[in-house]
Amino acid sequence: MEIIIRPSSLEGSLIAARIVDRTVREKPHAVLGFATGNTPLPLYEELARLHRDKGLDFSSVVAFNLDEYIGLPTDHPASFHHYMRRNLFDHLNIRPEHIHIPDGQAENIPASCRKYESEIRSAGGIDIQILGIGTNGHIGFNEPSSSLASRTRIKTLTPQTRRDNAAEFGGVDNVPCHVITMGLGTILESRMCLLLAFGAKKAQAVARMIEGPVTASLPASVLQLHPRTVIILDREAAADLERVEYYEWTDTQKPDWQEY
Ligand code: PGA
Repeated sequence: MEIIIRPSSLEGSLIAARIVDRTVREKPHAVLGFATGNTPLPLYEELARLHRDKGLDFSSVVAFNLDEYIGLPTDHPASFHHYMRRNLFDHLNIRPEHIHIPDGQAENIPASCRKYESEIRSAGGIDIQILGIGTNGHIGFNEPSSSLASRTRIKTLTPQTRRDNAAEFGGVDNVPCHVITMGLGTILESRMCLLLAFGAKKAQAVARMIEGPVTASLPASVLQLHPRTVIILDREAAADLERVEYYEWTDTQKPDWQEY
């Protein structure tokens, strides 16, 4: 794992944007995996700026989102369909037919999950999967105890995740219990995983992800098995890491070709 620590979330987000920018310029039909939540918002703002001011072209890019709540209409303000339009897709020239988000209103959820997997395969697989991490170590909505080999499927949220997301729903009682999420096995097949984590409340999960054992109890730890994961942290999210000096030193020793 490549660990990049920056003083602020903004500096970290700009590195993530450079990685996406470079990939899309080298491969205009890149397949990008998107995440939701507060963490990627500065990254998405920068991608919108790069499109607007620097001609970054998303017209051939294909998008797959990690997850969606079950039962929410796509225009519900807390749905991830709505989040993605508001925070990113409305500000890019991405084609609507290139956007894929799990269908939380599908009549046959297992069949729609299988279709999602086959759409990812037909698109040639995901080039960069953008990820956040939950305070309980989830990625996507793969809650603790998720199979490390899981595929896109229905999951039940933990009480902690429902509390963490309560603000968008005006109270925890309104947060759906069920979601569709790409599985950990699905995420591991991406050619690159780009995980962002900012703030002190992520420090414990981040330390367990990077320096703890690979375990379904901390789903993000499965990224230790991925050959190309970049983890971008601010100092607060890096605070519980034991080998922080080594990671920072490694970062300063990078050859030019590896710099972002
Ligand atoms: P956050 O959520 O970006 O809002 O902190 C991350 C997550 O739960 O995966």
